[in-house]
Amino acid sequence: MAAGKISYDTLVKEDQVHSRLYYDEAIFQEEMDRIFSHNWVYVGHETEVVEPGEFVGRWIGLQPVILVRDRQRRLHLLLNRCRHRSNTVCQLERGNAAGGFRCAYHGWTYAASGELIGMPYPGGYAPGDFDKAEHGLLEVALEGYQGFLFGHLNPDGRSLLEHIGAASTLLDQVINLAPEGEVMLRAGMLKHKYRANWKMTIRQSCTSRPSISIRAKASTGIRFTDPTAPRAPATLAMAMVRSISPPRTARPAFSFRVSKAMSPRPRKTPMSRVWFGASASNGPQK
Ligand code: FES
Repeated sequence: MAAGKISYDTLVKEDQVHSRLYYDEAIFQEEMDRIFSHNWVYVGHETEVVEPGEFVGRWIGLQPVILVRDRQRRLHLLLNRCRHRSNTVCQLERGNAAGGFRCAYHGWTYAASGELIGMPYPGGYAPGDFDKAEHGLLEVALEGYQGFLFGHLNPDGRSLLEHIGAASTLLDQVINLAPEGEVMLRAGMLKHKYRANWKMTIRQSCTSRPSISIRAKASTGIRFTDPTAPRAPATLAMAMVRSISPPRTARPAFSFRVSKAMSPRPRKTPMSRVWFGASASNGPQK
């Protein structure tokens, strides 16, 4: 079914959602467009990048971005695509780019602000034909609230505050719990890596993690993998223990990368006949 023609009314009931929401390619593409490409999306907290040049790599949907402070400590959100041939300029999750980002493909170099500062054989570009000022890394719109930073790939004039609306009071409540009236996110990281539709992350976060994780594994066959050893399938218990234990060196953040991969295990019941929800235990329904 083409994107834009999906009848969500037939897929979402009061107490159930159809499994198509978790595997249909057209739905996935529409989510990437409507949710991630045309909305403010959380990318990090300003205390994650404090020093000049400090950066973290993040994702907005399927687009890699870099949250970075330039030498004047100004914040930038840069599209992580080289302006030469679109290679990702930076493959690190965090680091310091005070000396700039250098694309590994052909060596174009960018300042932490995103400005193109050099390339090999500059004399090969005809004077007047090439303006470095027009070939910096593309800036993604960035706005913050209480230190929480959001990026927008296609800003449409709607401010971040308009987007989060009443949810701002929830952020206020979190901040007000801090005795100093502010939070710093530099103490550790909780990270999930699993082969499942991206919405499963939210599904897990909305209820107690162990119980929903066990249910998810039992009912959908999702295989969790240890994020520190991607090739080694880990049991759910191992994944849980490792995700709860704070990493020794990681700094704090909450992040996830969108994945559309589904369970590799064969199913007896076709996914097209599976519903999730309160009545799902009654068996597959049409
Ligand atoms: S793709 Fe980056 S320098 Fe060529």
